[in-house]
This record gives sequence, structure tokens and C-alpha cells, in this order.
Amino acid sequence: MASHPSARSHQADASLRERARAVIPNGMYGHQNAVNLPDNFPQFFARGEGSHLWDVDGNEYVDLLCAYGPILLGYQHPKVDEAAAAAQDAGDCLNGPSAKMVELAELLVDITPWADWAWLAKNGTDATVFATSVARTATGRREILRARSAYHGASPNWIGADMATPADGVSEYEFNDLTSVQTALDQASDDVAAIIVSAFKHDVGIDQELPTPEFARGLRDLCDANGIVLILDDVRGGFRIDMAGSWAPLGVDPDLSAYCKAIGNGHPISALMGRESLSDAVAKTFGTGSYWFTSAPMAAAQATLETMLETDGIAHLEQIGSALRSGWQQAADAHGVGIRQTGPVTIPLMTFDGDDFTARQAPRAYRFASELAERGVYLHPVHNGFLSTAISEADIAHTLEASDEAFEVVAAEFNG
Ligand SMILES: Cc1ncc(COP(=O)(O)O)c(C=O)c1O
Repeated sequence: MASHPSARSHQADASLRERARAVIPNGMYGHQNAVNLPDNFPQFFARGEGSHLWDVDGNEYVDLLCAYGPILLGYQHPKVDEAAAAAQDAGDCLNGPSAKMVELAELLVDITPWADWAWLAKNGTDATVFATSVARTATGRREILRARSAYHGASPNWIGADMATPADGVSEYEFNDLTSVQTALDQASDDVAAIIVSAFKHDVGIDQELPTPEFARGLRDLCDANGIVLILDDVRGGFRIDMAGSWAPLGVDPDLSAYCKAIGNGHPISALMGRESLSDAVAKTFGTGSYWFTSAPMAAAQATLETMLETDGIAHLEQIGSALRSGWQQAADAHGVGIRQTGPVTIPLMTFDGDDFTARQAPRAYRFASELAERGVYLHPVHNGFLSTAISEADIAHTLEASDEAFEVVAAEFNG
């Protein structure tokens, strides 16, 4: 892999983008639309293996985004993909699920001390939306409280007129601010079915925020005192912070917990987990999907979770994440570039002093990410990264060497 800038080719990518514009509205959709990324970021990829990724022009990258989270053990992990292939060979999509469904639910319940059941679907949005339906059925109330601007899925259940506006039936509080939760509760006049909270605050482009123990415990107490269901949205944090759930280290247990992303190492599956007291409400709430019962993703999830447990994957992720965080800080200091690194080390986010993404002004982050891409490291400029256990010491060394050069470019361009 080249370690110096090389003006990589993006010809095949450009041609695919042109063809896409003819047959896919806007050429692409969702946050995977590369149009908002630096010019040298590819839209289309050809292959992933371990910690590396290749775009359609054959450019290679150490991957610090991991498909926006799903890749936890590296691309094409042998144990996971063999388990999925065996399930696929036996017939993946049948009239009902295979035994894998029960085995996976047993494993999930086993590793999550407070939970009694697991309910499986495909996407994180399936799980968060179903969680609100269960809470509404269980309580007979309507309103859901979420943290301001928190993302819980692309669904009219969550999003109103635009991304920043909550849907009908959803009102907001401030993350880490119990007073604002109490105010939202007072305003909803006894009609609150659930409070949903992300494992940590991760709005795009701004510093991440870990929950304070007081906030987490306070939410639990408010829910208990008012008969409200506490939903932990662990779609982004799940299995990168703690295998028993991202709030396990805080000692705070939710009533429902939504997982997706990392659970199947890239195979499509999500889960909602919950307490026995809510299983009647689940039974009364209809939910299904054409592909929710396929067994290959369930086999993949079982293999992913078992591998994480057997190899102490979380410790490995923390080790890589800490090396990256301290290496970035040292390099930034050496070049006089002010940065902030926030959130869990295994889900890294770096923001730059002087940038303001909320005003769509993050030129330093964009320049840094672009210089890294040119040197074979894929880091999203403003979305948090995700680490995989496949990332090696050599990958970190390469990333830090490239970062040193990228900080030098940022310093030359912005430090006046
Ligand atoms: C915290 C959180 N909740 C829910 C979702 C929605 O998950 P999905 O895109 O799988 O539907 C996401 C996706 O990024 C997320 O980060």
C-alpha cells in the first residue's frame, strides 16, 4: 500500500456514479451518499477482507468506518461466514425459522443478565419502532421522549417534517440533563409510554457525549416512579462497549434494548431484548417481515457473539482504540492542530478546533479525511468511526504515519 499521496484513480467510480444517476433517484440515498464526502472518497466498493477495503478502482484502505458499524470482527470473518454459509446451504428462507432462531435468542438472553427474551428482525429501525409499539401497548399511553435530535432510525415513527423535527407522538429532552427530562414529562401530562435513550450521544459532526452515571440512574428512577418503559437504543454502541449491553458498566438496566449493526458482523439482523413483564405486550403487538426469519444471519450473529466472547473482543477493540486516540493526540499536538476526541475509544470521533459542523463548516475535518484517504486510510470526516478486531498494530502504525502527514497539511493550510 502506498504511504505517500498518489492521486489515486477514481475512473470506475465516476462511471458508476454517472450510470447510477440515470436509474437511482439522486444517484444514491441515505448517509451512504458519497456526494457530501471529500472528492477523493469513492461511492462504490469492490471488496473487503479483514481490516481492509478496496474500492471499484482497486484503491486499498485500512477501514475505520466498518460499513458504518456492522463489521465488528473484520470483513469475511471465517467462523462467521462459514456458519452463515452452512445455514444458507441448508435453505436460508423457509416457511419459518430454523433452530438457529432459538439458539441465538438463548445466547442473547444468556449474555444479558436483565433480559428474559429476544425478538429478531433486520434493521435497527425495526427494533426501535417495535420497542415504541410494545411500550405503547404495555402502558396504554402514546408519547415517547427522546433526546434532542437523537437518531433512532429513518421512519415516520421518529422523523417529522425534516430530520430535526420529531414525529407526532415524540417529544424531546436534553441528553445528560435530568431537569429537561422532568420538564418534558410534566408537559406530556401522564401520557408518556417510554423514554428512549442512546447508549451515548452521537449526533453527526459534533462531539460525542458519554452518559453520566447520575443521568443514567436518574432516567431509571423517573421511569420506575412513573410507570414508563426505559428503552436503550444500543444500535450504534452494542457489542463495542460491553457484551452485556452498553449501560452494563453503569449498573443501569433498561426495560427494552435495541441492537443491530455489529450483531451479525455484516449479515442483516437486529434484535430487541426485554423483560418478562413486557412479553405479554410483545405477544399483542404484531410484527413481521418477509426476511426476518432467515437463518443465515442468525447463524452469523451466533458465531459473531461467540467469537467476541471467546476472544475478549472488547478488550482488543479498547486496546486499538486507545493506541489510535493517543497517537492522534500526539501527532496533532506536534503539529499545533487543536482537536477533540470524544465518546468511547472503540467508536472514535475526532473534531477540530475552528470547525463548526452545525454551521456546515468543517473544512479541517474534511481536509484531514481527504489526506488520509489519499494515503489509504478510510476515516469519515464527520461521522463517528467504528473499529473492528481485525485492525492490527501494522494498520494502526500505517494510520498514524498517514495521520502525521495529514495533520501537517491541516496545520499548513489553517494555522495562518
Ligand atoms: C442509534 C441508532 N438507532 C437506530 C438506527 C437505525 O438503524 P438502521 O439503519 O439499521 O435501521 C441507527 C443507525 O445508524 C442508530 O445509530
